[in-house]
Amino acid sequence: MDLSVTSLLCLGALLYVVVQLVRFVRADADFTLLWAVAFGNKPETKLRGKVVWITGASSGIGEELAYQLARLGARLILSARREKELDRVKHCCLSCSTLLEEDILVLPLDLLERDSHEAKMKTAIEHFGNIDVLINNGGRSQRSLFLETRLEVYQALMDLNYLGTVSLTKQVLPHMTQRGTGAVVTVSSVVGLAGAPLATGYSASKHALQGFFNSLRTELTDYPGITISTVCPGPVQSQIVHNAFTEQVDKPVSAPGDQMHKMPTARCAHLILVGIANRIKEMWIAKQPFLAFYYAWQYAPTLAWYLTDLLGRKRVQNFKAGLDADSAYFSKPKTS
Ligand SMILES: NC(=O)c1ccc[n+]([C@@H]2O[C@H](COP(=O)([O-])OP(=O)(O)OC[C@H]3O[C@@H](n4cnc5c(N)ncnc54)[C@H](OP(=O)(O)O)[C@@H]3O)[C@@H](O)[C@H]2O)c1
Repeated sequence: MDLSVTSLLCLGALLYVVVQLVRFVRADADFTLLWAVAFGNKPETKLRGKVVWITGASSGIGEELAYQLARLGARLILSARREKELDRVKHCCLSCSTLLEEDILVLPLDLLERDSHEAKMKTAIEHFGNIDVLINNGGRSQRSLFLETRLEVYQALMDLNYLGTVSLTKQVLPHMTQRGTGAVVTVSSVVGLAGAPLATGYSASKHALQGFFNSLRTELTDYPGITISTVCPGPVQSQIVHNAFTEQVDKPVSAPGDQMHKMPTARCAHLILVGIANRIKEMWIAKQPFLAFYYAWQYAPTLAWYLTDLLGRKRVQNFKAGLDADSAYFSKPKTS
């Protein structure tokens, strides 16, 4: 009898471990976020009617966030530099939702033109009266080796990804503290937590954002109605590689490469919205094997360094051989 109870318990424990392993292999976000997907608040219940300001709304993740938010009834402020693209996104938002013309404000904005941010904030408030959520999503990546990259590229990456984001947050946050409610959600990256070759400056700018927002959150404990969230996506389908900085500020990426192995943009945007609806402070969003890296970096850094050295070496070799750096992990370097 005792033996069978013990056997049953062992079998139960084994089954539990197997189920968790299978869940992990199939996971595309951290367990807290996936728990929220299954049991937490639905984005439509928390975000309908809210005013959401999205930077980088003219393409990629920001564009998809706009569509999903429009469909669930949020009112939108769409910002990026290219007004024509923003108009296109607005038009698509209107045709896929029940929103009215006045529910979407196209507000062209250059994150680098920090002097203009105060006026942009005024325009946004004049139009909607308040801002519930700021999604700091606009930014650019990097594909170049440090030894070959000019210092101006590092300046440009920090100016755009870090200071541009801090500058807009500086305009919006006092409005939220005055109302005692709001959310500032910043799209960082897996390289905001870890390091990766070809992205020294990009990674530094995202680490800066992580440090900034983690510290800002600690200053806002008297405002329990305000949420500061950072989102750390792994590879996601978008224009990010096409728009990345290279060795020189104005030199484009020669071949953006294949996007197919990356997470679909719609899935990433959905997970971000679930995270916002559930006030999650940090979201890890990536398909495997990338997600496993987050956990390794967090809980087993020695293993993480071992793997990063192995894969990083391969990534650099492939980059030097002219292969697509993003899918280079899965391909062999050219030999001739
Ligand atoms: N895709 C990924 O694999 C991935 C992974 C991790 C993190 N991320 C982060 O996700 C965010 C969105 O990127 P994405 O993947 O959607 O790339 P994307 O398709 O290239 O979109 C980037 C957006 O940023 C805007 N932007 C660029 N420079 C700007 C400036 N000076 N002022 C204002 N807006 C500017 C672009 O619009 P305009 O050109 O019209 O200004 C565009 O709308 C970025 O912060 C990126 O670092 C992406």
